[in-house]
Amino acid sequence: MATETKPKKGLLIRTWGCQMNVYDSARMADVLAPLGYQPVDDPEQADMVIFNTCHIREKATEKVFSDLGRLRPIKEARQQAGGDMMIAVAGCVAQAEGAVITARAPYVDMVFGPQTYHALPEMVAAVEKSTGKTRIVNTDFPVESKFDLLPDEAASQGPSAFLAVQEGCDKFCTFCVVPYTRGAEYSRSVSSLLAEARRMVASGSREINLLGQNVNAFHGEGPDGEIWGLGRLIRALAEIPGLDRLRYMTSHPRDMQDDLIEAHRDVPALMPFLHLPIQSGSDRILAAMNRKHTADDYRRLIDRLRTVRADLVMSGDFIVGFPGETDRDFDDTLNIIRDIGYGQAYSFKYSIRPGTPAAKLPGQVPEDVKIARLEILQTLLFEQQLALNKQSLGTTVPVLFDRRGRQSGQLLGKTPFMQSVHINAPDRLFGQIVDVHIDTAKINSLSGQVAIVEPEKMEACA
Ligand code: 5AD
Ligand code: SF4
Repeated sequence: MATETKPKKGLLIRTWGCQMNVYDSARMADVLAPLGYQPVDDPEQADMVIFNTCHIREKATEKVFSDLGRLRPIKEARQQAGGDMMIAVAGCVAQAEGAVITARAPYVDMVFGPQTYHALPEMVAAVEKSTGKTRIVNTDFPVESKFDLLPDEAASQGPSAFLAVQEGCDKFCTFCVVPYTRGAEYSRSVSSLLAEARRMVASGSREINLLGQNVNAFHGEGPDGEIWGLGRLIRALAEIPGLDRLRYMTSHPRDMQDDLIEAHRDVPALMPFLHLPIQSGSDRILAAMNRKHTADDYRRLIDRLRTVRADLVMSGDFIVGFPGETDRDFDDTLNIIRDIGYGQAYSFKYSIRPGTPAAKLPGQVPEDVKIARLEILQTLLFEQQLALNKQSLGTTVPVLFDRRGRQSGQLLGKTPFMQSVHINAPDRLFGQIVDVHIDTAKINSLSGQVAIVEPEKMEACA
């Protein structure tokens, strides 16, 4: 590839929200790299700051505005000194509240939604040409998919990489903004996904996390012209030499097809961990949420999954205080948590999102009730998480070391069951899958010693 050297510029991207936003931020950096933008950590060094935002709950949205306010004096000082700093708001807040952002924070140069960041070079050029006088608001849902327009070249994501296979959601749960901010479901083609996965492995990734707002609704066009489901895609990805681990998130219980369930039995690279939100254990609330399944449907589904993969560790999302939730409904949620047993979970107080059907429902639950229920629910989930971690004590587990710790000599990694492991180990183990003997189990992490390699094995390796 011919490369023209551009003057170096600092790029700071701050990311809120889900893993899809993390993926989008990495791709934004890839789009901007040919223009000379290089990642920096400090706004003082940045020529461009992008806030990649989350709209899922009110708190995340408000934080964006308060943090934007902190950039303003830096930009103004820069302008007084004859320079500038470009400020962009991206992601789901941008998509949902483009006009509000330009009104509340007029010093923002660019506002663009999750579907248009492939056009960043044109947006940047337009702002530069106008010497900062033009403000770009680009929140279209274009006909063409950004995935077809993004560059093939991507910076390595390291040992564990994210790959967006599907985007958007047609489920319309009554509490959720995603169908409005991310738009209708769209699945990428199998051939483009296999090519991107191969590039990730070639650049050093050993684990790929398949991403989508509703990832198991994946229905991408296969090279044979047929529509492939997620199970078939996983089987094909598992054939890539050097790709040792596969995971996927986030899934909807209605879309767990037989082939995907069977992939948990047949594909060793598919890790025994599944994030499958139920949100509530009460059938009344599930119906009001428009989840389109009952608590028993979910129980039966987990039974089937654990029949094919007995050691499967479950993760989920829960909302407490959905409109109309009674103590009895809440007890049903505690009951399903006891029945299923979760290795980890995310839990939230219901947050009113303007424009969603649940925002207008009667029976909004008082804040103090939400707080009390969340605490009870989290206590139960933490107990389960700690119990699972304690089961690892004295065992030896394969850990993929995918991050370096803050202190030198510390490596951080993940077990197959998504537990975090922190150990002191030589840096040459970074990016490796190493057997670790677990001797300490806390709520959020495990630690231990690298298992001693037997002398014969060491000789054989030498
Ligand atoms: N209030 C609280 N939690 C919400 N989530 C989505 N929308 C809301 C809301 N309005 C949670 C759900 C979802 C996760 C990503 O965020 O549990 O699975
Ligand atoms: Fe939101 Fe998930 Fe429901 Fe889609 S399935 S509307 S992303 S909670």
